[in-house]
Amino acid sequence: MTDIDVLEAVLHRRHSCRAFRPDPVPQADIERIVTAAARVPSWCNAQPWQVLVTRGPETERFRAALLETAMSAEPQPDMPWPESYPDAYGARRRECGFQLYDAVGIARADKPGRAAQTMRNYALFDAPHVAIIHAPKVLGPYGAMDTGGFVTAFTLAATALGIASIPQAAVAAFAPMIHAHFDIPEDRMILCAISFGYADEDHPANSFRTRRAPLSEVLDTRGDG
Ligand SMILES: Cc1cc2nc3c(=O)[nH]c(=O)nc-3n(C[C@H](O)[C@H](O)[C@H](O)COP(=O)(O)O)c2cc1C
Repeated sequence: MTDIDVLEAVLHRRHSCRAFRPDPVPQADIERIVTAAARVPSWCNAQPWQVLVTRGPETERFRAALLETAMSAEPQPDMPWPESYPDAYGARRRECGFQLYDAVGIARADKPGRAAQTMRNYALFDAPHVAIIHAPKVLGPYGAMDTGGFVTAFTLAATALGIASIPQAAVAAFAPMIHAHFDIPEDRMILCAISFGYADEDHPANSFRTRRAPLSEVLDTRGDG
């Protein structure tokens, strides 16, 4: 096996997990994931990411507070949401949504059922841990871009250790509550959360895999030298 075979195997194995078992991840594995993920490049090597990880009762305290907030507050993310998902982006968004609803047996017209599935985000899909990912506001979109690379690497390093994960913008929607709950300073942007732990492999929410656009829609090679 060459390095690229190993890397491709991890890239293909990773998927967003939406049902976790309660078993905690050893702290040494969490530290290994964060250490590995921090090898990603960042502009000027600024390494803008910081990660707050919960264990045990801290996860339960946050889960309860988040569920309560999601039921009563309006979304107020630190980083603005996309204004729209036009064209192919909208089609992909709908497709992955329908894959999830089909997998868990929610009819497409069943609005309350879909809302209940959305609420699973705020229960952190029952994960034993959540990572809150934040970056300095002053670094703006490039700070967010560098941190996006860190988020991806976190999910890959986790996969390589047999640990499932899901990045969640839905959680970052309630940024004011997260700042207050964890005492994260206002000069940092809450970019997303990553719920993680061991996958409940038999749960229908984990039974589908998303597609990718063909290479011809992604790669534009100019010249033949
Ligand atoms: C920045 C980011 C935010 C995301 N937010 C959510 C979320 O709030 N809820 C959710 O169910 N999935 C979320 N996802 C997971 C995506 O839906 C998922 O990555 C995409 O559909 C591709 O599927 P895959 O990760 O299984 O390959 C997010 C992914 C990323 C990278």
